[in-house]
Amino acid sequence: MRLAESVVILCFTIAATALPLIDTATSTERLLHVPRHQHVQDGIGVRRQAADNGTGHTQIYCHNETDPPIYFTSQPDTGGPGVYILNGDPVRHGAANGTMYFFYENDHDFVPYLWTVLPPGGAVFVTPCPTFEGRIVRGDASNFDGTKHLLGTWTELSWNRNGTAWGDVSLLEGNDGPVLIQALDEPNKYKGFSIDVLSNAPAGAWAQKLGTGSWCLDKITSEGGNAITKAWESRFLDPNSVYLEDSINPVINSNNGRFAVTFYAGII
Ligand SMILES: *[C@@H]1O[C@H](CO)[C@@H](O)[C@H](O)[C@H]1NC(C)=O
Ligand SMILES: *[C@@H]1O[C@H](CO)[C@@H](O)[C@H](O)[C@H]1NC(C)=O
Ligand SMILES: *[C@@H]1O[C@H](CO)[C@@H](O)[C@H](O)[C@H]1NC(C)=O
Ligand SMILES: *[C@@H]1O[C@H](CO)[C@@H](O)[C@H](O)[C@H]1NC(C)=O
Repeated sequence: MRLAESVVILCFTIAATALPLIDTATSTERLLHVPRHQHVQDGIGVRRQAADNGTGHTQIYCHNETDPPIYFTSQPDTGGPGVYILNGDPVRHGAANGTMYFFYENDHDFVPYLWTVLPPGGAVFVTPCPTFEGRIVRGDASNFDGTKHLLGTWTELSWNRNGTAWGDVSLLEGNDGPVLIQALDEPNKYKGFSIDVLSNAPAGAWAQKLGTGSWCLDKITSEGGNAITKAWESRFLDPNSVYLEDSINPVINSNNGRFAVTFYAGII
């Protein structure tokens, strides 16, 4: 718990001092990163993913979409791979008493793998299965309805078989609020952002979430992305810190497979 608290303090200190974003992180695994938005998004995808000839990489799934999502609370941190999730959103989103967070595996967009609820200021440590490759997102109970909830900020994480890992923050599929990701293998390795770029965004930049009906910033993928949203976000955010472009991979590696991810005030 002491480590969890120190990470919380560190991240909240950074929230106050990280503007403008200064990219001090080094990413050594850019070439290994395959942005997940480039996957075809129809169908369940297990078979297709199992023969992903584009990269020669085969994902070994942690969870079968026919099984229900797994609820978790904080696990003991014994120094191994895993991720701290920190809720920096002061708002209690309705019945959840805080914010619900979901882990989705790549191409398993219909059913989350893991989920938890954190009160404002709360933190959990969790170690997903060793081959987890996917994203953490904000959400609510509608994420259990068996449909896709793609719109929003994606915090992408991937562990390699040898325990190393990489992560990034992507706005390609939408922006429902800031997220900062920190690799915990060395000091001062961050990606993502902590500023609010939603509040003053132009009318044409918004899109509606399917589950809750609330509005956040639209997706900016190369296929069918919103050019107004992309232009707006590009005024404030650095493509070397967050995914704004298909061609620039702002990923951060962690040699001990450990991360802290802070979700700031967002739209559920
Ligand atoms: C992947 O490559 C293998 C071997 O080259 C080939 O047999 C298979 O058809 C390919 N699969 C797809 C989905 O392209
Ligand atoms: C998922 O579970 C179903 C039902 O048990 C099974 O038929 C299917 O083969 C499983 N899929 C994978 C990828 O394990
Ligand atoms: C929210 O808090 C109330 C009051 O403490 C409790 O009864 C309820 O079970 C909580 N809901 C969730 C989803 O944790
Ligand atoms: C761990 O595995 C990744 C992916 O295969 C590889 O790029 C990296 O060099 C490996 N790191 C170590 C320390 O073995």
